[in-house]
Amino acid sequence: MSENALFAPLPEFSRQAHVSSLDAYRALCAKAEQEPEAFWAEQAERELHWFEKWNHVFEWNPPFVKWFVGAKTNAAYNCLDRHLETRADKPAILFEGEPGDRRTLTYRQLHSEVCRFANVLKSRGLKAGDRAIIYMPMIPEAVVAMLSCARLGVTHSVVFGGFSAEALKARIQDLDATLVLTADGGWRRGKEVRLKDAVDEALKDCPGVKNVIVAQRTKGQVNMTAGRDHWWHELEAGVSDDCPAVHLDSEHPLFVLYTSGTTGKPKGILHTTGGYMTFVVSTMKWVFDLKEDDVYWCSADIGWVTGHSYIVYGPLAAGATCVMYEGAPDYPAWDRWWQIIAREKVTILYTSPTAIRALIKQGDSWPNQHDLSSLRLLGSVGEPINPAAWEWYHRVIGKGRCPIVDTWWQTETGGILIAPMPGAIALKPGSGTFPMPGVLADVVDFSGSPVNDGAEGFLIIKRPWPSMIRTIWGDPQRFEQQYFSRIPGIYFTGDAARRDKDGYLWILGRVDDVMNVSGHRLSTMEVESALVRHPAVAEAAVVGKPHEITGQAVCCFVTLKKDVSSNHHDLAQDLRKWVAHEIGAFARPEEIRFTEALPKTRSGKIMRRLLREIVTSHTVTGDVTTLEDLGVVTKLAAQHDED
Ligand code: WTA
Repeated sequence: MSENALFAPLPEFSRQAHVSSLDAYRALCAKAEQEPEAFWAEQAERELHWFEKWNHVFEWNPPFVKWFVGAKTNAAYNCLDRHLETRADKPAILFEGEPGDRRTLTYRQLHSEVCRFANVLKSRGLKAGDRAIIYMPMIPEAVVAMLSCARLGVTHSVVFGGFSAEALKARIQDLDATLVLTADGGWRRGKEVRLKDAVDEALKDCPGVKNVIVAQRTKGQVNMTAGRDHWWHELEAGVSDDCPAVHLDSEHPLFVLYTSGTTGKPKGILHTTGGYMTFVVSTMKWVFDLKEDDVYWCSADIGWVTGHSYIVYGPLAAGATCVMYEGAPDYPAWDRWWQIIAREKVTILYTSPTAIRALIKQGDSWPNQHDLSSLRLLGSVGEPINPAAWEWYHRVIGKGRCPIVDTWWQTETGGILIAPMPGAIALKPGSGTFPMPGVLADVVDFSGSPVNDGAEGFLIIKRPWPSMIRTIWGDPQRFEQQYFSRIPGIYFTGDAARRDKDGYLWILGRVDDVMNVSGHRLSTMEVESALVRHPAVAEAAVVGKPHEITGQAVCCFVTLKKDVSSNHHDLAQDLRKWVAHEIGAFARPEEIRFTEALPKTRSGKIMRRLLREIVTSHTVTGDVTTLEDLGVVTKLAAQHDED
């Protein structure tokens, strides 16, 4: 498919869409650009409930921003209480567990669960300003956990269940959390993921945690520490479901989500309440064109930002019916997703290119066995979608009828910043198309000057938007230095992009040392620091290597300490296991290459760029004039042929 392939919105889609023409899209953008305060105030008033209104819409002291200053609101109230008058008996969550168990929670039931559990938290002494870690499988209790915290103003940090005890520990410590919400385990490909065991391991070094509340999911054997650990169902028994939502400041910290940066230490991205909620609920309508009778399914995990904004806060604030599935797409067979879509009559599916590529590989007969005619819109997130994956998604899943919204955003942006409004924008496969209203995106060079159309540059956002990162938890200097120092006062995304002659934005990938493996962000430095903690390793350099399914795979170049004389095959296995133990199974390296030396500059910096070239093209063509020892590179490039 050529870059100029253009898919105009079908008239029947545009006719019913929230934003139904290019002119309507442009009018929204013009208003947001020219009168940002009036524009966002209108959105906030229309889409959310406020206990008290703001004094002013935003306050911008670069790099710090505040939205809806002086207002009082509550995220859980907006996701639940506000719907009780009009949608109490509408399903909020259609849950399916991997073993096949199902549960429906209406808005009334979810509200009641959240109030009850918030009362449990209150009785354990939790209050606004405290911090809780959520380390749970994809079960409704995870949503209840998030919303119960939000109801009280307890700032939550969800840690993806695939992270190891080590990674969990680092996050608990960085956040000074006093509460951990977890489960005995969860189901993944028929196996139990033993979450509580990992919590026990992590808590050996976290004396600040006073309460651990454990939801029962797998009924596996777990150890409970007396005085600290409690069963969710036992604490909840007989507790009242009357628990008024706390009136919180618009800037009250809603959650911290850790993500990989360019150092070994993950960054705690802080999001607050009023602005975040305004933006995520707005994009549910603009991008997903959400309507009252849609059945919406985002296949992400709540442990990533996509789960926060587009499984929990956005869709529930918009009053959507959401499908939630616990397990793997191939369990027990590769048609699990298509079965769910047919049965629940899913209308909107939001997933990742990695998932799409994995599904393509299994052949069309899996989706073709099921009735997918309920689908009306498809979404993609987390990484660039390649034309072949786009074409298959469009033809085989969407039957040529469903627009695909390719959504570009980041943990730091809180919500979708660049994506087509499907009733208004003609699609180009692989392009995120245009920014949301009020998002002033540009492509610039090193000095911050816009580059010509067609040229590559850095993607920046010139004005703050409501769901922007507020700071890095406990490290405002790193926040400023990471995002606002390249071009002072301007948000630097870390992605390269290009704008074509029609103004369409094409995202080209990271310009820093961040890899994207299966749409999951992973820092090369994080993996390197894990490797050098291993007793046999002297030095390590890690790069992302192109991979057919996962986009990138982790490739490690390792030099060993002098006295190590172990079998390379066994040691490679050992190091893979070690990284999985230190970070999580999703970070397990695909490839370990042992080498006598790493290519370095004369000042001793590892030249990852050369290693990237070696794993991508098996040769080195770039500038090597600063390289200390050219022999190292020729050896490494040649090594591939021996493998
Ligand atoms: C990449 C995920 C191309 C990008 C929501 C970004 C994308 C990083 C897209 C953020 C897309 C995300 N097209 N690249 N549609 N969406 N990315 O924080 O490099 O896990 O900077 O947030 O993923 O990853 P994060």
